[in-house]
Amino acid sequence: MRPVRKPGNVVRPEDVDGVASINTFARTRNSSYPQDSPGPTHRILVLDEDAIVLSTLERMLRDTGYGVAAVARPSEALQALEKSEFDLILADLQIETEAGCEVLQNWRQRWPATEVILIPRYGSIEAAVKAVRLGALDYLPKPLRAEHLRGVVQAALRQREHTRQARSLARPDDQPCNLHSVIGSTHQMQRVFDLIEAVAESTATVLIHGETGTGKSLIARVIHSLCSRRDGPFIEVSCGAIPETLLASELFGHTRGAFTGAVADKDGKFRAAQGGTILLDEISCAPPSLQMKLLRVLQERQFEPLGSNRTLTADVRVILATNVSLQKEVEAGRFRADLFYRINVVNVELPPLRERLGDIPLLATHFLQHYAAKSHKRLTGFSDEALATMQRYYWPGNVRELANCIERAVVLTRHEQVLKSDLPPALVQAVDGDTPLHLAAGFTGSAMTLKEALAEPERRILLAALRANNWNRIQTAEMLNINRTTLYKKMKRYRLDEAEPERREA
Ligand SMILES: Nc1ncnc2c1ncn2[C@@H]1O[C@H](COP(=O)(O)OP(=O)(O)OP(=O)(O)O)[C@@H](O)[C@H]1O
Ligand SMILES: [Mg+2]
Repeated sequence: MRPVRKPGNVVRPEDVDGVASINTFARTRNSSYPQDSPGPTHRILVLDEDAIVLSTLERMLRDTGYGVAAVARPSEALQALEKSEFDLILADLQIETEAGCEVLQNWRQRWPATEVILIPRYGSIEAAVKAVRLGALDYLPKPLRAEHLRGVVQAALRQREHTRQARSLARPDDQPCNLHSVIGSTHQMQRVFDLIEAVAESTATVLIHGETGTGKSLIARVIHSLCSRRDGPFIEVSCGAIPETLLASELFGHTRGAFTGAVADKDGKFRAAQGGTILLDEISCAPPSLQMKLLRVLQERQFEPLGSNRTLTADVRVILATNVSLQKEVEAGRFRADLFYRINVVNVELPPLRERLGDIPLLATHFLQHYAAKSHKRLTGFSDEALATMQRYYWPGNVRELANCIERAVVLTRHEQVLKSDLPPALVQAVDGDTPLHLAAGFTGSAMTLKEALAEPERRILLAALRANNWNRIQTAEMLNINRTTLYKKMKRYRLDEAEPERREA
């Protein structure tokens, strides 16, 4: 059941009696934070030209334990950012104006690890969509609720921690793979991070579901790197790439003469992964006979090599990955229901890249730094047009495709910035041209109904409208000119009723 939202303090100018100390950097020395509170090391830059709002926010954030700099103008914000490092910017920017856009773009390009939350005076769907597209983490039109704002700020700072550490990935002395190798600042990825951290230490079987290139193998490695087996082996087996007849022998090993061609005893991957982790990728490709053996390993931790009656014990953590819905495979009779229930213990859903537009600038910048360093090129970032094009593309190959696209652009560009013309022509054409959506989406093989094609844009518009109205459903329905029941139904269909982090925080 969703918790009932309690009425919190409302940050409104009329609640405030003092006036802000403009342009001061204030850091509290108060160390009596509750356990879960942020330490004073987090620094927030607040920009609002309304002096009373500014002072209210400054005081509220300072009382929560953050270091706060309060400024009234974008030029002052720029000076502050150039002087010291901030974790988060809370800014009253009207993103509808060209000036507002420029300010946000400049911040995101120059300080990509500093998260930005916009707190404009007036909200609109278009502006919310634009803000997220330009890299803002959130869009909260006024009036602001203190409790709600605290929750959002706390979540943003947690994310900033991940981002900060992820940026160090490019350093050659860095660990090859850990939680910080995973880049993402959207709330969908925040959930993934929380889940990974929660399950890493347990021995629970993990099922990772996501389209190709969303990072399933990466996440599996990260889980391994976080658990006590990290010094043991990590073995990845792509079940789809091995002929069905050889798969069982590949996993469990065989004895000499077990089948034609088995000229010597061979240890399988489960044996090789002893004391560590095994990732069984494309698990939906496992044939029925293998599914039965897998069930036994998962339940009893025991298996026999082919042709042997010697029972071996598997001291192995099992992670499974799939890019198709196993539930649907069960319904179609292709996957054993008992095995599905056994492996569906902890389910990590990796969202496609097109559903986390806010991560695109961050990931693109990360890959740019990585490939520019590799090819000894000095590149400052992306042109606005290039970024906008990338954010409008469908990315059927997800993060892998983005990485390849940036690698190509870094090699080809003759400018300091990556321009739109440096992006792959097919990508630009898919975005600009009149390529039908389903082709731009990469669904060249299977047909897509109009309803399916319109689902994603509809979901995004709803999300933006809900955010623009602070998740007030009545106002959202009015803004979109649909009735409330229709809105509820659509929210349910797109699972937006679950995607309401602000409410849970409040
Ligand atoms: N969030 C992320 N941050 C940084 N790099 C990422 C992220 N997600 C994916 N990558 C990188 O993108 C590439 C593809 O990721 P990965 O191989 O893990 O995808 P996958 O889901 O396992 O794909 P497939 O279904 O084809 O096996 C890898 O180079 C990986 O390091
Ligand atoms: Mg993979």
